[in-house]
Amino acid sequence: MEVIIQPTAGDAAIKAAQIIAELIRIKPRAVLGLATGGTPVGLYTELARMHRQEGLDFSGVTTFNLDEYVGIAPTHPASYHRFMQENFFDQVNVPAGSIHIPDGNASDIPQFCARYEEEIRNAGGIDLQVLGIGHDGHIGFNESTSSLVSRTRIKTLTEETISANQRFFGPGETVPRHVITMGVGTIMESRTCLMLAFGAGKAQAVAAMAEGPVTAMCPASVLQMHRQTILIVDPPAAARLTRISYYQHVYSNKPDFQKVSAFPVV
Ligand code: PGA
Repeated sequence: MEVIIQPTAGDAAIKAAQIIAELIRIKPRAVLGLATGGTPVGLYTELARMHRQEGLDFSGVTTFNLDEYVGIAPTHPASYHRFMQENFFDQVNVPAGSIHIPDGNASDIPQFCARYEEEIRNAGGIDLQVLGIGHDGHIGFNESTSSLVSRTRIKTLTEETISANQRFFGPGETVPRHVITMGVGTIMESRTCLMLAFGAGKAQAVAAMAEGPVTAMCPASVLQMHRQTILIVDPPAAARLTRISYYQHVYSNKPDFQKVSAFPVV
């Protein structure tokens, strides 16, 4: 895992956007896995700026989102369909037919999940998956104790995740208990994972993920077994890592060929 510590969350978002822009320039038909939540908002803002001002072209890009709540309309202000539309798709040129977000209103959820997996495969697999991390180490909505080889499926949220996400819902509104999420195994098949984490509240999860044991208690820790995970954090989120000076040493002493491209394999 490559750990990149940036001075601020804003710098981290710019760095992440540069990595994605590089991928799209190398591979215009790239398949991106996308995430929602507070963490990737700055990344989407920067990608939209690159689209507007630098002509970054998403017309060949296909996207698959990690997850969605079960039972809320795609137009609901807290739905991930709406989040993605407002924070990203309305501002770039990904063709509508190339956007995939789990359908939380599917009449047959297991069948929908199997088809989602098939669509990812048919698209050639995910080149780069954007990830955030939950305070408990979840990725997507794969809560602690999720199978580390799980596939896209329905999950029941923990009380902690429900209260962490209450802020996106109106006062008195109930956060759905169920979600559809890509599995840990689905995420692990992405060619590159790009995880972002900001703020002191994520420090414990970041340390457990990068330096703790690989365990289903912290599903993100399985990324230690992923061939190319890039973790970009701000100093508060990095605070509980024990090898900070080594990560900084590695980053500032990259061999020239590694500086040219983050993508030896796409
Ligand atoms: P956040 O959520 O970006 O809103 O902190 C991350 C997550 O729960 O995966």
